[in-house]
Amino acid sequence: LRHFLTTEHLPRSLLEDILDTAASFVDVGGRSIKKVPLLRGKTVVNLFFESSTRTRSTFELAAQRLSADVLNLDIAKSATSKGETLLDTLRNLEAMAADMFVVRHQDSGAPFFIANEVTPNVAVINAGDGRHAHPTQAMLDMYTIRHYKGGFEGLKVAIVGDILHSRVARSQIHALNILGADEVRLIGPKTLLPVEAESLGATVFTDMALGLKDVDVVIMLRLQKERMDSALLPSEGEFFRLYGLNNDKLQLAKPDAIVMHPGPINRGVEIASEVADGPRSVILNQVTFGIAVRMAVMSMAISGQESSAHGRTGGER
Ligand code: CP
Repeated sequence: LRHFLTTEHLPRSLLEDILDTAASFVDVGGRSIKKVPLLRGKTVVNLFFESSTRTRSTFELAAQRLSADVLNLDIAKSATSKGETLLDTLRNLEAMAADMFVVRHQDSGAPFFIANEVTPNVAVINAGDGRHAHPTQAMLDMYTIRHYKGGFEGLKVAIVGDILHSRVARSQIHALNILGADEVRLIGPKTLLPVEAESLGATVFTDMALGLKDVDVVIMLRLQKERMDSALLPSEGEFFRLYGLNNDKLQLAKPDAIVMHPGPINRGVEIASEVADGPRSVILNQVTFGIAVRMAVMSMAISGQESSAHGRTGGER
């Protein structure tokens, strides 16, 4: 790994390496994460141009557990508000000897642009770009599924809600197909389903009862109003009636199905509290696993940078 920008087209062995490396950081109990010296002397810069609770905090914790120095640039208070360009900001951070940029940006493609511009010794990790990709979220979701289901073979996974605007869903669909899931179902109203769903390797359902039948994993997504044309915005009450997950609808999935959500959750819009806080929910476990998965991605990217600097390997994206 050199940069980690997308799950699309990555080899299965690399995704499995990320999951195995993450598992090596987790103690037997599954919650506590070891502190290791893998990034000692390295500087990680969190560049979040969009709001975040989970991703930013777990990247910061992951970098600390890897013994890196961490700088969280406060974009609102940075010189970008005085007209400094993104490139000039990057050059200045490189002059502070940054080794890694963790980037979240409202524009699809921004981390790819940054990865093309940085000096060869800097790694770039995509922490979510527009509606395009959120690869570390997808990998922590894959870790969660593997943890609870033991693997991907034979699994039917339903992703429900606003798929059209979801970078998480795109990265999950790629990762699930690469890792060998049996079926990926996308469930939502026609207006919130991507036209390219089938070419992505997913089956589309507009009827939630049909889509949830016998699935092993249910992943709920919120309405992403910040990326939505207001003409597409359904009424929240109607959306909950048709596509919100409550205990009655969850009965249609397999009896041991798990319920996931990348967060933030909107209670009573896409998920009822009885499900979000219920026994089948692994939503907070996803957050915990995110620390180890981000440690894995960061440590693999730094070692990939060091290898390519010594001319040993090429740069996967
Ligand atoms: N899942 C996720 O990306 O959450 P945040 O926006 O809080 O980082």
